[in-house]
Amino acid sequence: MTKETLTITDNRTGRTFELPVTHDTINAMDLRQIKVNDDDFGMLSYDPGFKNTASTKSTITYIDGGKGILRYRGYPIEQLAEKSNFLEVAYLTMFGELPNQEQYDKWAYEIRHHTFVHENIKRLMEAFRHDAHPMGMFISVVAALSTFYPEARNIFDEKDRMKQIVRLIAKVPTIAAFSYRHSRGLPYVYPDNDLSYTGNFLNMLDKMTQVRYEPDPILARALDVLFILHVDHEQNCGTATMRVIGSSNTDPYSAMAGAAAALYGPLHGGANEAVLRMLLEIGDVKNVPAFVEGVKKRERLLMGFGHRVYKNYDPRAQILKSYADKVFEATERNPLLDIALELERIALEDDFFVERNLYPNVDFYSGIIYQAMGFPIAMFPVLFAIPRTVGWLAQWVELLNDKEQKIARPRQIFLGEDERDFVLMENR
Ligand code: CMC
Repeated sequence: MTKETLTITDNRTGRTFELPVTHDTINAMDLRQIKVNDDDFGMLSYDPGFKNTASTKSTITYIDGGKGILRYRGYPIEQLAEKSNFLEVAYLTMFGELPNQEQYDKWAYEIRHHTFVHENIKRLMEAFRHDAHPMGMFISVVAALSTFYPEARNIFDEKDRMKQIVRLIAKVPTIAAFSYRHSRGLPYVYPDNDLSYTGNFLNMLDKMTQVRYEPDPILARALDVLFILHVDHEQNCGTATMRVIGSSNTDPYSAMAGAAAALYGPLHGGANEAVLRMLLEIGDVKNVPAFVEGVKKRERLLMGFGHRVYKNYDPRAQILKSYADKVFEATERNPLLDIALELERIALEDDFFVERNLYPNVDFYSGIIYQAMGFPIAMFPVLFAIPRTVGWLAQWVELLNDKEQKIARPRQIFLGEDERDFVLMENR
């Protein structure tokens, strides 16, 4: 008969401990009883980057990194990308089940009717420098929203909480579009609440003198698919940040500004921008082998490759790779795709990448599609942040409802100086 326990023998003392195992996991606090003597603080586990530490139980997103599986609330990402739309996936992620028609209509109506931002937000955005990075603007404005909705602090009031959730999902495309128009020196375009989520986003990006903006259905659908693929990805750097900040009971705007800041980095959501800059630098298919050699000599990273969890093809990259040609029907074909395909071909045959299980991740192909759609490179991380808003908020609600959660507060192994007396300046 097997026992759901783990037996540890401490060879320093010869003592043996039996720790319960639940969900193939031990509780880190159970290690604390392992001591050399009574004054000993107790055993800690050391895990920089949380490579092997579960910080929560969750029911939102499932990833099997070895098999390349991604599911939101049990539904495979491939089926959602093919058959659903962004707002429906947002509902599913937030509430756990697919909506019926009435629930969907109400949800979509609510989101569509909270798209406007306060005029002072517009003025705040106008104050940024002409060349401000749109992600810097996005992060700042999301944080600023907390000052417009002070009731957002009532995070345990379900009604107030839901109001902020709807506002955030509804307003992030407006903020993103304003940041884009700002970078182009163009007047900001107000939302059109009769259009779909992505149709309205295109409207706020592109509208010039038309009386009524008609979004290109292929581009609107492409954005919808891209948004679905980016909704959630369990405990990644940005989401973990949302939970860490949220664990101190901060309002969701402030927590989300932190999550977006984490996403901005080139090792995370900023990788799509970094991939495009890398492809432009390579410039031609003939330069690919030399570039790959540089990566193998550790002079560079191959951006858009590798993942903490996927040790196989990222299923989101697979969908995007096959989706690129569909998008190119409505746009010019992006010549950078040929460089990307050659990079992928060489990398996937090379021992350096094979041995380390380095495969393309979502950011490898998304930037090529965004660029073909006409987005400037600096907008790419913002395009990641819009749909990820849903995941951050769903994870934040799960955190608040989880009785086992505590304020996030890791431990450290202190290796600094022991106590010593202060030395006056003249004696140093
Ligand atoms: N190019 C070259 N070598 C790499 C790369 C890469 N892109 N990624 C990992 N490696 C090597 C790394 O040097 C290490 O080699 P060794 O064991 O010989 O020292 C090995 O592969 C394992 O890498 P790691 O850095 O220990 O893995 P990690 O889990 O800490 O990092 C990662 C994951 C995504 C930060 C990393 O793969 C990376 O920097 N990739 C490029 C940036 C990127 O594309 N980020 C987007 C991630 S997907 C979107 C998102 O959700 O954020």
